[in-house]
Amino acid sequence: MANATLGLFFFWTSFVEMESLIKQVEELMKAPAPKTKDELESFRLRLLSKKGLIGEIFERFREVSGEDKKKFGARINQLKTAAEEQYRTLKEELESQLNAVEDVGMDPTLPLNNLPAGSRHPLKLVLEEMQDIFIRAGFVVKDGPEIEDDWHNFSALNFPEDHPARDMQDTFFIDDDFALRTHTSNIQVRVMESGELPIRIIAPGRVYRNEAVSARANCFFHQVEGLYIDKGVSMADMKQMLLYFAREFFGKDAKIRLRPSYFPFTEPSAEMDVSCFLCGGKGCNVCKYTGWLEIMGCGMVDPAVLEACGIDPKIYSGYAFGIGVERITMLKYDVKDLRTFFENDIRFLSQFRSIG
Ligand code: PHE
Repeated sequence: MANATLGLFFFWTSFVEMESLIKQVEELMKAPAPKTKDELESFRLRLLSKKGLIGEIFERFREVSGEDKKKFGARINQLKTAAEEQYRTLKEELESQLNAVEDVGMDPTLPLNNLPAGSRHPLKLVLEEMQDIFIRAGFVVKDGPEIEDDWHNFSALNFPEDHPARDMQDTFFIDDDFALRTHTSNIQVRVMESGELPIRIIAPGRVYRNEAVSARANCFFHQVEGLYIDKGVSMADMKQMLLYFAREFFGKDAKIRLRPSYFPFTEPSAEMDVSCFLCGGKGCNVCKYTGWLEIMGCGMVDPAVLEACGIDPKIYSGYAFGIGVERITMLKYDVKDLRTFFENDIRFLSQFRSIG
């Protein structure tokens, strides 16, 4: 009895071992093809040599029970043939590859060194930094069309027909109905119209104005629009958010000031200045000895705009701002000529390789 159990146990272990050896062979055959002669040889040794896996399988085969012999016999013969066949194919492939290498006189398997890595554009670096700051404060990023109709670029934003305010921005018209957007404020309108409240968005994008190209102006540039609409939002909230932005972006000692200004879609409207981060406010040639740098337009969304976009101004209020990305980037990296951003000169762009 004890012997019979022992026998069974013995058969059972051989069975398990056979299965595990077969599995090892199958895995080895699935492994990536050898790339060198040495790798091919170690494949052969491990699989087909006398002491290799296949040899061991045939060794074990003698120990399995009669019943299992039938089961394994055909299987391991097939495995052996397949393994030998695979070895032959791999050998042929490798030899032809190596011959090809000799033919062309180079080794295509060598790693590629010293491929110059690209760098992110300075405007993109600044844009991403600005985005991160607002995202941390709970803003989400929105997008909108660059080809825009009159309603979203002007009318909904309280620019009446033939109002002189429309002349503030020289527009590239596409036809009677469409123009290239002159600011990212069109995205404000689209988000407000979508009807979801409260709103806390920033919208970065390219804008177009028909201006003569110079060191300080271009016919297209980038803005980041911000819009926050909720119940009971005040100008103090706006000031606090903009101060937070200035400190995160320019450093913890940054100060801000709001100067009264005019935009048709905000009331009251302001220009925001940040204390000059180069001279700390003492006055230098960058801030033109004023101690302040103008960086954005902002204000409380005009109730007429809320109404035009389907929001009840008796319940909701909010603020908006628009930051010029080129302007901030020029200040941050001391870029003197705006045109350098768009000339794709590697000598300029590669200076930003390790930043960010
Ligand atoms: N759209 C304005 C501009 O292009 C900037 C702005 C945005 C001002 C939002 C106030 C509020 O100059």
